Amino acid sequence: MLLQLNNLVFFLTMPSAIVAKLWPALMVLFLVVCCAGVSNGGVTSHYVRKPEASVCMPKAAFPPPQGFNAPEQVHITQGDHVGRSMIISWVTPMEKYPNTVTYWAEGKGKDKHKKHSSIKFYRYFNYTSGYIHHATIKRLEYNTRYFYELGNGKATRQFFFTTPPKVGPDVPYTFGIIGDMGQTYDSNQTFEHYMSNTKAQAVLYVGDLSYADDHPYHDNVRWDTWARFVEKSNAYQPWFWTVGNHELDLAPEIGENKPFKPYTHRYHVPYRASKSTSPLWYSIKRASAYIICLSSYSAYGKYTAQYNWLKQEFPKVNRAETPWLIVLLHSPMYNSNNYHYMEGESMRVMFESWFVENKVDLVLSGHVHAYERSERISNVKYNITDRLCTPVKNPSAPIYITIGDGGNMEGLADRFTEPQPSYSAFREASFGHAILEIKNRTHAYYAWNRNQDNEAVMADSLWLYNRYWYPQEEHSSA
Ligand SMILES: [Fe+2]
Repeated sequence: MLLQLNNLVFFLTMPSAIVAKLWPALMVLFLVVCCAGVSNGGVTSHYVRKPEASVCMPKAAFPPPQGFNAPEQVHITQGDHVGRSMIISWVTPMEKYPNTVTYWAEGKGKDKHKKHSSIKFYRYFNYTSGYIHHATIKRLEYNTRYFYELGNGKATRQFFFTTPPKVGPDVPYTFGIIGDMGQTYDSNQTFEHYMSNTKAQAVLYVGDLSYADDHPYHDNVRWDTWARFVEKSNAYQPWFWTVGNHELDLAPEIGENKPFKPYTHRYHVPYRASKSTSPLWYSIKRASAYIICLSSYSAYGKYTAQYNWLKQEFPKVNRAETPWLIVLLHSPMYNSNNYHYMEGESMRVMFESWFVENKVDLVLSGHVHAYERSERISNVKYNITDRLCTPVKNPSAPIYITIGDGGNMEGLADRFTEPQPSYSAFREASFGHAILEIKNRTHAYYAWNRNQDNEAVMADSLWLYNRYWYPQEEHSSA
């Protein structure tokens, strides 16, 4: 609009004889300039962090901890459906043992418990992993700080975490949201900005972790370095995992045909607790949220295991217990970026009507290396013959957020489709992360934080209204 006003001022200040001669041409030019600024949709921010590809930090930036066979790559995630268990995972590089985790509640150091891990390792082309340990500690008290120790002698390492409050409809809880992180200098900036926020209690991770597969022969040392990279958060608070295409690690040219091999050996999730048959899709409850993680890269057509599981999952969600229903999946269903355009369409066709019928609050995705937030819209009327294939406002629909902007080595997705479609409320090609602060059963505050120089800058924020308890229209501050 500023450009259009400038043009108008320019025309008005021209000598009148010239204006009279050039009047028809000037009018055409003026109309073209005006129309170029018209968009059907919301805001396209033209702030661009930097267009060039991001550079990976060297492997040497992530040395293993000191001490013989010191436990490393420590990470935790919820171990059951309600938050009273924790899966503790770590790697011992040289020897299998010790394979125990010692843990105790704060203030109860005399009452220590031990849990043995299950141990596994895998080979991937010319790489052999260390010994990967997973131990599920159970029957924890809610809302309690626990300390835990791994290793022995001088190589002993101690960590802590806090269990969530008991599941309930008005329990406040704060999640970080990160996707497509990788291990570049930009990833580091995203991560440091996330770490500087002391409110977030757990991370909803929307897929594409290490980007090891972007290195020659899927250099699996990059899986090790990534786990060391995020340990300073992930050893202390649970990250909830969703798989992306960079977890597939399919490479038949080097004899690697088993999908998700490194990921499934390294990252365990409590899928059996939600009656899932695969670690690639599962659900958990945490505080006042019900979180469903789906796999964009597993079969989801009618009659498949994932389809059948999700169909049975929605009726289990009790909004009187967990008002906030959040779905995580990697490939976005609504994406107005030229990168990965329409890749989420087939899953949208299968699942969107369920999201609307069940009043899902938020659908979080990654994959596209930019940020975008949709309006509450649906596109569920289309039945091949009725031509009703335009997304329309729908108060029962989720807000779709694409947040694959963690900062990986593939760089930004900086080409949006133009004009901005009406379903797109805000979009920007920058790296960043988001924070979701659930306040009670009706309200949650959501903010996307753009990486800018040395600080996290809030660039898009919104008070979210719960679809079940308070289905009013939100008004963006963007
Ligand atoms: Fe991806």
